[in-house]
Amino acid sequence: MLRDEVKRIWPEIAWIADADLREKVYRCWERAFTLSPLEPADLERIPFTLKVADCPVSFMAHKRLVVQIARASGEKVREFFGDALPVDLDVLIAGAILADVGKLLEYEKDAAGDSRQSDRGKYLRHPFTGVSLAMECDLPDAVSHIVATHAGEGNLVARSTEAWIVHHADFMTFEPFVKRLQL
Ligand SMILES: [Fe+2]
Repeated sequence: MLRDEVKRIWPEIAWIADADLREKVYRCWERAFTLSPLEPADLERIPFTLKVADCPVSFMAHKRLVVQIARASGEKVREFFGDALPVDLDVLIAGAILADVGKLLEYEKDAAGDSRQSDRGKYLRHPFTGVSLAMECDLPDAVSHIVATHAGEGNLVARSTEAWIVHHADFMTFEPFVKRLQL
């Protein structure tokens, strides 16, 4: 059953405290898989980015690390800043988990089973398809905002605190692969 597969690849969805929000996150991933040529097990195999040649990190390893860093960061911001910089952990976790859900519509598989960008993905990168999926699944706008702004497109937008955290968690675990100091 698809729900069981989503639960298996995404144990972090259980971290979402609000039952209604948690259910919508499950349904959003399920909806993406029904529209995608990719299956849950593919995400544990394909590289997390097409921008790194022979990328050694899987899609799920990267996405789950981003969620884990985002939650830990949100908890530390709350611990040290408290009401000075409020962080909604449920919104933060849901947004981090859904940030790349649109990649299921951005990728397709070639004859060898490798992933590549689809024509749809060229027209509509995953922040756009991700927002479409999130709104279709009735996610709160605060969560769709994180999906919309997590990547470079979001540099043109005023980000929420939660969106800044997800953006940095995403980029701190991507940029060293493409532009770290080489000695
Ligand atoms: Fe992304």
